[in-house]
Amino acid sequence: MAQSNKGSIPRSFIEDLLARSDIVQVINQRVPLKKAGTTYKACCPFHSEKTPSFNVNPQKQFYHCFGCGASGDSLKFLMEYDGLSFIEAVEQLAAMSGMEVPREKLTPKQQEQQQKTKDLYDVTFAVAKYYRSQLRSHPMSEQAKAYLKSRGLTSEIAKEFVIGYAPDGWDNLVSGLHADEAMKAQLVETGMLVKKDNGRVYDRFRNRIMFPIRDGRGRVIAFGGRIINPEDQPKYLNSPETSIFHKTYTLYGLYEMRQSRQAFNNVLVVEGYMDVVALAQFGIRNAVATLGTAITAEHLDILFRQVDDVVFCFDGDEAGKKAAWKALELALPLLTETRTVKFLFLDQGEDPDSTVRKEGVEGFQRRVTQSMSISTFLFNGLEAKLSMPISTIEGQQQLISLSKPYIAQAQAAMPDLLTKVLSERVDLPVWRLGQIMGLRLASTQKNRDKKPVEITKLKAKSIVLQMFAVLFERPSWGKVFDDDFMALLTGSENAEFRFFARALSVLKENGYLLESWERWFSDAKRVKVLEQIRAIPLNDDDEFLSSLYEQIAMQITNELTSESALKKTTPENVGDMDALSAWFELQKSIKK
Ligand code: UTP
Ligand code: MN
Repeated sequence: MAQSNKGSIPRSFIEDLLARSDIVQVINQRVPLKKAGTTYKACCPFHSEKTPSFNVNPQKQFYHCFGCGASGDSLKFLMEYDGLSFIEAVEQLAAMSGMEVPREKLTPKQQEQQQKTKDLYDVTFAVAKYYRSQLRSHPMSEQAKAYLKSRGLTSEIAKEFVIGYAPDGWDNLVSGLHADEAMKAQLVETGMLVKKDNGRVYDRFRNRIMFPIRDGRGRVIAFGGRIINPEDQPKYLNSPETSIFHKTYTLYGLYEMRQSRQAFNNVLVVEGYMDVVALAQFGIRNAVATLGTAITAEHLDILFRQVDDVVFCFDGDEAGKKAAWKALELALPLLTETRTVKFLFLDQGEDPDSTVRKEGVEGFQRRVTQSMSISTFLFNGLEAKLSMPISTIEGQQQLISLSKPYIAQAQAAMPDLLTKVLSERVDLPVWRLGQIMGLRLASTQKNRDKKPVEITKLKAKSIVLQMFAVLFERPSWGKVFDDDFMALLTGSENAEFRFFARALSVLKENGYLLESWERWFSDAKRVKVLEQIRAIPLNDDDEFLSSLYEQIAMQITNELTSESALKKTTPENVGDMDALSAWFELQKSIKK
């Protein structure tokens, strides 16, 4: 925002400002407060609730919500509630208290710049007023009014969004605003007039419905203009980037959303001006639009200052999916425990405007509640890129490697949550996925800290038997053992391990199907082992099994590596029967 050309605000002023303003007054103007003893109460504006848990303390000049934990001083409230930056909040509060914000070290040149910027806002405001008056009274505005009506907009909503009409012609602004040379220059600077090489100027917007674009403080900074005559081109024309209009951090409808003074749990990001206005017409006030560009990190930053949940609405076609994927890539690293983004894919060729008209508010809101989570969208999207089906091991490996960069970028609890979802899709435990992808996951960290109670609770003393028991519950987890591990097992002097290696290769050769193992184990010479495995009681609980599995696998790995470090001799080749009889010997010795 255009604050950079101003000097910085002295710390002492901010303290002074807070001391002189009254938080009760500040909040009461926005959220009606009720006195309750020495404090004031209201239903919290930052989350939805039916009984008031939002408290304002005049002694401490502090607010606190016992429901959602929101708290702070007057400035924080203005930032959160009005969605202002810190500087904007200071200016707002100073204006309310009749104080002038002093600026340190403002050179005459900077002052001049500041004044110029202020004048630009005055010019764009005058233009908005002019277009508005033309919609009401221009002799040719009937068609524009009829058009708005045909799109279901009432005059109230048009007024609220300051929708206007740019008449046909090349010099309406200059004559309509009685612009002198200085003002002409400003109209060029704000993009309202286009300057030709010969120095002459003409109206950029002609015969269009005009949508003023306002910044967070309600100042008009630019316009979008829609054609009325279907033959005209392009359908929408936007102001160019100017010193007061930056598309990368402007969202159409944000100011109007705040003005509606409703508490929202989420914000819908839609693609068009008309979508924002049409939704507002239906009472859905929490929609904003990007301005013909993809969503940016700056946009998301602004939105997450208002709410924790952002819902992207896209057309369900290929272009919409592509735009959604871009939004996903952008949002993923910005998510925290509390922030979420979701994806709402509308029917092909439909936009929020047409959908809400067809299905009404309820139908539209139902779609919003059913919108897709980021993890579902992410893994569906990655699965669609696989060259092998996800039912194959190759497909699963591909999915893991495609997922890695996304999971690695995610913050806070997201890597764990995403890996959990991935683990369901590829049927491998979370800790093993963490190993494969080389990611430190908090949840497996936690598992490692847990005392291995599960193991000692189990009656079976043999870790291999326990391993079999887990694998009988989750055969696909056998995939965690790679060729190197198999080589160590096969070469182990521990007969039990060699038997385990044989069993594993049987499982692997048969695509990790449980039936193959059941057949193999029911062979007369192995059925005793099967009985022992079956005698181990296990909870069919993913978390329990996964943690147990990890501990057993670690233990086996430790034994194998210390064993191979001790003896460097090459392993003799041991047959199945040798291994099995040795294993039974071992079992007997354990039982004694
Ligand atoms: P759409 O073409 O989807 O427009 O463009 P829409 O909002 O549904 O418009 P209606 O319903 O036909 O009135 C979506 C957005 O893309 C930008 C505008 O910001 C528009 O709101 N756009 C579109 C342009 O900038 N220029 C164009 O020519 C078209
Ligand atoms: Mn549309």
